[in-house]
Amino acid sequence: MTTAAVTDPGEQLTALLAPGGRLDPYPHYEALRAHGDLVTVRPGLMVALGYEECDRALREPALRVQDAESFDLLHPGWRARSSLRGWTESMLYRNPPDHTRLRRLVSGAFTPRRVASLAPAVERMADRLLDRMAELGAGGAPVDFMTEFAYRLPVGVIGELLGVPEDDHGWFRAAAADVTVALEGITKPSELERADSAMDRLSAYFAHLCDLRRGDPQDDLISALVRAHGEGGDRLGGNELVANLVLLLSAGFDTTTHLLGHSVHLAFEHPGHARRLREDPAFADAYVEEALRYEAPVQATSRWAAEDVRLPGATVPAGTKLVVVLGAANRDPRRFPHPERFDPDRGTIQPLSFAAGAHFCLGAGLARLEARLALPRVLRRFPRLAPAGPGRYRDRWLVRGHERLPVVTG
Ligand code: HEM
Repeated sequence: MTTAAVTDPGEQLTALLAPGGRLDPYPHYEALRAHGDLVTVRPGLMVALGYEECDRALREPALRVQDAESFDLLHPGWRARSSLRGWTESMLYRNPPDHTRLRRLVSGAFTPRRVASLAPAVERMADRLLDRMAELGAGGAPVDFMTEFAYRLPVGVIGELLGVPEDDHGWFRAAAADVTVALEGITKPSELERADSAMDRLSAYFAHLCDLRRGDPQDDLISALVRAHGEGGDRLGGNELVANLVLLLSAGFDTTTHLLGHSVHLAFEHPGHARRLREDPAFADAYVEEALRYEAPVQATSRWAAEDVRLPGATVPAGTKLVVVLGAANRDPRRFPHPERFDPDRGTIQPLSFAAGAHFCLGAGLARLEARLALPRVLRRFPRLAPAGPGRYRDRWLVRGHERLPVVTG
């Protein structure tokens, strides 16, 4: 692809969001970076590309996540969309004090000890899925790694944590993909319709499940949250219960699925690293960290300035929307020498793939656990795992990953 002819940052951004740009955003980041690490696209819209700029922006309290109040200012008419209404009820789109209250309620389920206790369940589920892949791939038949493993493992894990019956997992993949499209910012009306119906379906599903748990509590996160909701006061009100369950489900697997897909794809491109993963499963810690840097499953997020905010290189004026490009920060050459090289031996790298600051991903530990345990298992079980033809990337910028990744298991 060529980007050389386009020089204006506005045109660069449009090219990035166009189908070709979404498939391979990295050359577009570099073209935008030629204008600086913090670029004004037009009055009211800026883009942060540098590691330091993104990190500082995410930790700056005056740079707030977009919430109902800012949507009213920036996107009039948004309340007609049930997908956007649903997202603004979740903690991802709330600022303090609401954000602090909601996050505290859920964070107990994600303490390092609770996450570590899930390791045996992750291993059990991974082994079961590998058995199934072996059956499907017998005789050299191609198997889609995304459908058969990368999707099923994280949905199984978050399903177990939340307490979602396994029989219901089947339709979540399409529903979560549809519902997150509403956050892309470049969404077509037909996609917004699909996002609305996915949000309606997921919300109705969780509302029903909450009713069931109210009458018959189990040892799961839904029951714990239903209890908090029932205790009233200002703990968890209105639609917040259902909205945060939809967030946990979709954030819990749509992203981890792509971390697994990227990690296996990179192992095909780097057979030496694949060999090391087989021989030394502890190498997975560094490998997964570099995979997160190199191919961030969430490429960007955004904030808006409640007041003038000074960042390195420029001031973000009050009222400005700031797009924080995590995928570009992770390839900032000032922070990562030769960022285009996949090199798990970089040492401590702290990629921004899980963001930073108050909204730092609640499931980061869980996602890392799943990938670190699963990857060596996949490669050991199928020492001759190989691509079966070209994979296909999703036509999405925000959540980047493979639609399909056909493999032969041996
Ligand atoms: C590789 C996998 C994952 C990636 C790349 C990822 C990425 C992110 C990012 C970038 C954010 C912050 C967005 C922002 O600041 O605007 C976020 C927030 C969040 N993530 Fe993840 N995530 C992953 C897995 C998970 C998992 C497994 C769960 C839950 C089980 C989860 C739950 C959440 C929640 C609840 C938030 C909102 C936190 C808040 O607003 O305070 N994520 N994630």
